[in-house]
Amino acid sequence: MLSDFKLAPSILSADFSDLRGALKICDEGGADWIHVDVMDNQFVPNLTIGPPVVKSLRNVTDKFIDVHMMVVDPEKLVEPFARAGADNITFHIEATNDPNEVIDLIRSTGKMVGISLKPSTPFSVIAPYIEKVDLILVMSVEPGFGGQGFIKESNERITKIKKYLSDNCLERIQIQVDGGIKLHNAQEVISAGGDILVAGSEVFGAQDPVGVIREFYNNANTNVS
Ligand code: DX5
Ligand code: ZN
Repeated sequence: MLSDFKLAPSILSADFSDLRGALKICDEGGADWIHVDVMDNQFVPNLTIGPPVVKSLRNVTDKFIDVHMMVVDPEKLVEPFARAGADNITFHIEATNDPNEVIDLIRSTGKMVGISLKPSTPFSVIAPYIEKVDLILVMSVEPGFGGQGFIKESNERITKIKKYLSDNCLERIQIQVDGGIKLHNAQEVISAGGDILVAGSEVFGAQDPVGVIREFYNNANTNVS
């Protein structure tokens, strides 16, 4: 049996002067999704990518574009990212007073809906909304920067969320895990219940990024019984 986890390389750690090259790496390695980290220098202390860049990516790839919005007032950016060609749009629960409005807006664009929480935000804060989403993005570092260390308590948290989903017949909701994921800890995250793994610096900081992407899949399949 093959493991059915998905890998979503984060282009935050790629060479921004060569995003076409980053897409080629993802293609050659066989990555499932392209993870795009959107930061507004308000919700997090960093500033990155907006809709025009997503539009340019969309023009040159058929891959699933996964937009992770780390921005205040996320409702203002939903339609621009949808029009630019995002396939999934994730927002942070901490960034809005009206999560239902953001969810309904994303849904109205026909895109997949993701909800995310920081490491310090209790799961109970998102619980009332999860029936309406397609994925839960569990941050395993403080959002804002690539290259940080995986917060080890995250695995326990993922397992609890997975159990909550199965206890409530919500197995259709996928768990995405983002931050500090490396070849050496990916298997633990998958075993804990992670369905979609984001990896930035491990892929794009490598000498052989295509080889690293392939190794994520090979390791997962070797460890599945
Ligand atoms: C952090 C971002 C992550 C980041 C992950 O706020 O959401 O997607 O790119 O990078 P690594 O894999 O290097 O921790
Ligand atoms: Zn991210």
